[in-house]
Amino acid sequence: MIKKYSLLAALFLCALQPLRADEGMWLPALISQRIGDMQAKGFQLTAEDLYSVNQASLKDAVVLFGSGCTGELVSDQGLLFTNHHCGYSFIQRHSSVEHDYLKDGFWALTQADELPNPGLTVRFLERMEDVTALVLKGYKSKMTEEQRQALIKKNADKLKEQATAEGNGLKASVEALYYGNQYFLFVFREYRDVRLVGAPPSSIGKFGGETDNWMWPRHTGDFSIFRIYAGPDNLPADYSPDNVPYTPKKSLKISRAGVKDGDFTFVYGCPGSTQEYIHSEAVRYIQDVSDPEKIALRTTRLNLMKKYMDQSQAVRIQYSSKYASVANAWKKWQGEEKGLRKNKVVPVKQDYEARFEEWAQGTRFDGITGRLAQLYAARNPLFRAYEYYRETVLTIERLQMALNPRFNKKDYYQPIDEEIFAAMISAFDKALDDSYKPAAFLEQRARFASVEEWRDAVFADDALAKELAEALDKYYDEQLAPQVKQLNQAITLTYRDYMQGQMEFEKDKTFYPDANLTLRVAYGHVEGYRPADAIWYQPVSTLRGIMEKDNPEIFDYNIPQTLRDIYAEGGHENQPVCFLATNHTTGGNSGSPVLNAQGNLIGINFDRVWEGTMSDLVFDPEICRNISLDVRYILFIIKEIGHADYLFNEMTFVE
Ligand code: ARG
Ligand code: GLU
Repeated sequence: MIKKYSLLAALFLCALQPLRADEGMWLPALISQRIGDMQAKGFQLTAEDLYSVNQASLKDAVVLFGSGCTGELVSDQGLLFTNHHCGYSFIQRHSSVEHDYLKDGFWALTQADELPNPGLTVRFLERMEDVTALVLKGYKSKMTEEQRQALIKKNADKLKEQATAEGNGLKASVEALYYGNQYFLFVFREYRDVRLVGAPPSSIGKFGGETDNWMWPRHTGDFSIFRIYAGPDNLPADYSPDNVPYTPKKSLKISRAGVKDGDFTFVYGCPGSTQEYIHSEAVRYIQDVSDPEKIALRTTRLNLMKKYMDQSQAVRIQYSSKYASVANAWKKWQGEEKGLRKNKVVPVKQDYEARFEEWAQGTRFDGITGRLAQLYAARNPLFRAYEYYRETVLTIERLQMALNPRFNKKDYYQPIDEEIFAAMISAFDKALDDSYKPAAFLEQRARFASVEEWRDAVFADDALAKELAEALDKYYDEQLAPQVKQLNQAITLTYRDYMQGQMEFEKDKTFYPDANLTLRVAYGHVEGYRPADAIWYQPVSTLRGIMEKDNPEIFDYNIPQTLRDIYAEGGHENQPVCFLATNHTTGGNSGSPVLNAQGNLIGINFDRVWEGTMSDLVFDPEICRNISLDVRYILFIIKEIGHADYLFNEMTFVE
């Protein structure tokens, strides 16, 4: 039977099938599936050069930095690059009024000056392998889901134990890919003596601040430099002054040849989380409910913070880090919502689901998309309440303080919190049915004539604050979160089948697993984009643009005087700073090496353009771009601002 395709289906066919150019975050161990395509697009190395367990390969130069960033080795003495925003909290911890390394930057003159960072670790991937059969060993189809999970856990624990028997910093994890259709064992070696070597002043490393975050044209020098130390045997060791620089299996050569429009590039790093295969109802919830509501709530909070930050330099310092973390997702969601609508992702997915169901008739996948829709219908009201808690009442510092004796009061400004209290309590109360509120909340609400009276009482009376905080916390932890977890588990379980169904339905497509902070390769090319009608963004920014933005009156754009002086000498106008490419990346890819066709370092990934942030759900090659710092700007800053070009002696440069 020939089905009459709707316009949307036609749109879908050209937009979503086959896998569109440059989409995907690929498992290095399975990169042979993609290597032909990579080579056709310009890559000059082999699959073995990217990932090998028998010889040193590029994977040995990439680490998971801390708990959520990527870093790369750039010398045979353990020197490592990552982003400034990834090193930020460590730079901050070493800073004091006398040595403000955040403001002024930091450059260790000798290895003895490098600063240790207790708690900071880096992980190298030793190997990864498909262990699906081993993890499911002993599985019988009549088992319940609980029995299956227990079996998987038992088998996975055994595999992890075997893989780490040697000790010496080995860590292992077994990760479910494709919602549990495949299991991979990842074995890492974790180093725990990682020292700060250098960081530019924030006016370079955070240049553009929140104003430019997620935006192009971009001019942020978002890098910091660390060094990994090891015991005398080159194995992981606790911090000791006797430790020596780690000798990596592989370090990256730095290319000074630069990038130009169209050049092949790839990103090797640890993307955190994507949801590329979800149901239209999940997307609809994000687009119509979650993103707009969270954006509105955060707009309120940001405006309140900003009002006081603009009035006082001291408050600005106290709240800049809090402001940045609220603003980061806030801006990302705005791009995501817009991108989902523009790409008509909900109707396109609905159409896909209709065709899937037609194909699935009589198979075990029959009706699965309808079941998912029902599960979302049951989950969404609860999940909305859960998100409301997180975005409103749980953000009130007065209530956090009541529960946490170690709350950092140094960075607290009560007038901001009082306004946030009134605004967030009102928004919470208005948005949610009373059945989602604990009894103590309802009792306190009844006691006061207005939210202002209630606020004044809560700020004056510790016992009242504690009662409210405890009640809300308890409701969230014991009622909401477990119910949401249970419904999400049921959804994940259904996705296991739906994912398999999608893979059978589209037999010719190569599916990549959703990101889960495991090592991936994404590849694409340098390219600008069209953010709106009649505008084309060029893919490379230069120092000229920094001078165009420079303004001593505006905190985010006030560059160091030295940089102005150097620029005034002339000859640096075309110094490249950042560039755009089509690599598919997400949060966690911060600090990832961006490499050229020969596998040499040309930049460090640090952001995406906000118009393309829906790539966590659907990738649009027209507009999804990752933003990288050009490695030549790093070298320029090390030399001209840090006067630390002695570090170049241990790097290897190629043209
Ligand atoms: N948007 C980037 C990321 O998601 C950078 C965030 C840090 N920078 C900032 N201005 N808040 O992590
Ligand atoms: N800045 C993000 C990070 O820290 C990367 C941006 C993104 O692609 O989400 O990982």
